[in-house]
Formats: sequence, C-alpha cells, structure tokens
Amino acid sequence: MRVLVTGGAGYIGSHTVVQLVAAGHQPVVVDSFVNSRPSVIARLEELTGEQIETHSFDLRDADKTSALFAEGGFDAVIHFAGLKAVGESSQIPLEYYDNNLGATFSLVEAMRRHGVRTIVFSSSATVYGEAAPVPYVEDYEPLAASSPYGRTKVMQERILSDVAATGELQVALLRYFNPVGAHPSGRIGEDPQGVPNNLMPFIAQVAVGRRQRLQVFGDDYPTPDGTPLRDYIHVEDLAAGHVAALEHLAAHPDLAVRAWNLGGGRGTSVLEMITAFEAASGRPIPYEIAPRRAGDLAAFWADATRAETELGWRAERTIEQMCADTWRWQSGNPQGYPG
Ligand code: NAD
Ligand code: UFG
Repeated sequence: MRVLVTGGAGYIGSHTVVQLVAAGHQPVVVDSFVNSRPSVIARLEELTGEQIETHSFDLRDADKTSALFAEGGFDAVIHFAGLKAVGESSQIPLEYYDNNLGATFSLVEAMRRHGVRTIVFSSSATVYGEAAPVPYVEDYEPLAASSPYGRTKVMQERILSDVAATGELQVALLRYFNPVGAHPSGRIGEDPQGVPNNLMPFIAQVAVGRRQRLQVFGDDYPTPDGTPLRDYIHVEDLAAGHVAALEHLAAHPDLAVRAWNLGGGRGTSVLEMITAFEAASGRPIPYEIAPRRAGDLAAFWADATRAETELGWRAERTIEQMCADTWRWQSGNPQGYPG
C-alpha cells in the first residue's frame, strides 16, 4: 500500500515509517516540523535504504493537502500529526483545538474528495477519563478527558466515527498507553524540544548529564511504592500495531470504525522505571520527591485483549528493552537530532 503518514517525522511516526517499509508498503511523509526536525528523514533513509518522499507543510492548509491527494495515489492514511503536550494544552487551548481539529478536517475533506477511505488514527488512553475502571476496555463510555489535548482526541474520535457511519471512511482508533523506547539501532528516538514533559525522556536526559535530577511527582499514591503506575509500551511494538491495524482494515473493507488499545496490559511505577533505567545505562539517576502533578491519575493500564484477538498483535518488548533502547538512542545522540 502507498500510505500517507502525517506527522511521519515525529517520534511514533518515524518508527512506523521504518516498519511500513519493512512490511513492503510505501510510506509518504507529510509534516510541518512544528515538533520535529527535517534531519529525521535522512536517518529514515539510512535505516530503510529507501528514499522517503517527504512533504513539508501544515495540514491545516487545505489547498496544499488537497493537491497532495490529487497527485498522491494513496491507498490509506496513518494520522499522527498533532500537538501533544498535556500541560501546554491548558496554557494555549485554542492552538490545540485549532491545530489538532483543523488538521483532521483538512485531511478528511481531502480524503473524501479524492476517494481515499482508510485511516488509522493516533488516539490516547487519556480518552477514558478519570472515572473509567482499570484496566481500560475499548467499549467504555462515556469518553471524557481532563485536558484540552485529551478533549481534542475525544472530538477527533467522534468526528472520524461520524464520517465512518456514512460509509465514506474506514477508521482504526488506536488508543496508545505510554510510548517509550527507540529503534534498536539508536539512530531514531524521542527528541523532545525544551524540557521533557514525560518521564522516560526526562530520565534519559538526567542519565546523559543534560539535567541534574528528576523530580518524582508524588510518592503518596495508593500504589505499592506510592508512585503512579503506567502501562509503558515500546515504540517498536506500537509501530507494529499500526501496520497490523492497517492490514486489518484492508482485509475487512466492510469494517467502518473500531477502537483498539495498544498497551502491554500491566502497570509499572515511576520508581521501578528509575531502577530499570539505572540498570540499563549503568548511570545513577538522582531524584527528589516533589509534589503531585495536577491531573495525574494513580494507576491505569490497558486491557489489550481485543488487539491480540482481532489484530494478532501484542506488546512483546520488556521494560528492560525499553530502557536499553532509549539509552542507546540518548547516549549516541545526547542533544537529539542535528539541526
Ligand atoms: P510528535 O510531536 O513527535 O509527532 C507529531 C508530528 O506531527 C510532529 O513531527 C509535528 O511536527 C507534526 N505536526 C503537528 N501538527 C501538524 C500539522 N498541523 N501539520 C503537519 N504536521 C504536524 O508526537 P508523537 O509522540 O510521535 O505522537 C504522535 C501522535 O500520537 C500524536 O497525535 C499524539 O497526540 C499521539 N499520542 C502520543 C502519545 C505519546 O505519549 N507520545 C500518547 C498518546 C497519543
Ligand atoms: N513523572 C515524574 N516526573 C517527571 C515526569 C513524569 O514523576 O518529570 C511521572 C508522572 O507524574 C506520572 C508518570 O511519571 O506518574 C508518567 O508520566 P508521563 O508524563 O510520562 O505520562 P502520562 O501518563 O502522564 O501521560 C501519557 C501521555 C499523554 C496521555 C496520557 C494519558 O504522555 O499523551 O498518558 O493517556 F495523554
């Protein structure tokens, strides 16, 4: 399949591009580079041995998006493009709604106009909200989210589902848990701009000496060691989940819309992650206990049975591999991507 990968220069998109090529598909990247660097593409070409056709513009530009589809000959779309920082989304909510919803409107309109039906969408476990029982199951309603970022995901899921109900789209809603890790080559990985919001890149930057110490946001949660539990999933497993979902949609043309959790089905605490990273890197991770971070939940993880039963997919990689691969990327690229 010739697959348009929106946000294909980003963290998860770049890993998925490599796996699409390995599975015999032809990825085409469109990215505005608002949160990634053009030098990612050279790394992708080095890893795949293929030229990666890349278009650099903002998907909200409806004319450019439509022109891309007019020429593109795409069989399907994987839609990663979006802004994703939970905290920032409360500071600049309008930018989040405008970027995330605007990109999706422009994209879906171009798909409709040019007869492309199949879309795999990057959703998030955050759509389950604070009231959902753990482990999260896909049929849980009502979806809710506690940040503007999360609400853009709930809204995009609704919009895509409503269009799918008309028969014009075929949609996979992939609800990611906590993506971490990097390609085992160490050539591509997560490269947050500024101070990392998420645990794993922060730990990795402490280990490599870019930051002095980690703040552990709260150790008084009702969990075994008092720190929150999350369902960390290796980005390589996540990328494989996209290929599986894409191929499932292609094999089931009558399927209109379906949600799948992409998680490992178990929780790991913040302190357990620190210990695992120290072992993988051989470096100490100095940390201090800080107040809880607003909006954090004590514990959640996926019920990942549906993806295993229907897609034949399951998260295989261990916490040790997640830490070892992150460390290979971070130690080989202490300042992230060049330029
Ligand atoms: P990322 O920021 O690394 O990648 C997103 C890419 O989209 C970037 O390269 C950015 O430049 C591009 N982009 C953003 N807005 C655009 C626009 N309007 N037009 C064109 N390109 C645009 O993020 P990621 O971690 O790879 O996440 C990919 C997707 O997965 C996002 O939709 C994110 O919300 C979702 N997701 C991520 C996580 C996570 O923890 N990383 C968890 C759940 C869901
Ligand atoms: N944490 C720290 N110190 C840090 C960063 C994080 O202690 O410097 C803790 C957090 O308090 C939390 C855990 O590490 O207990 C994981 O935090 P992350 O920020 O890495 O991940 P979240 O679970 O908060 O967020 C993730 C995704 C979001 C998504 C959310 C809900 O990054 O995109 O899950 O699904 F919205």
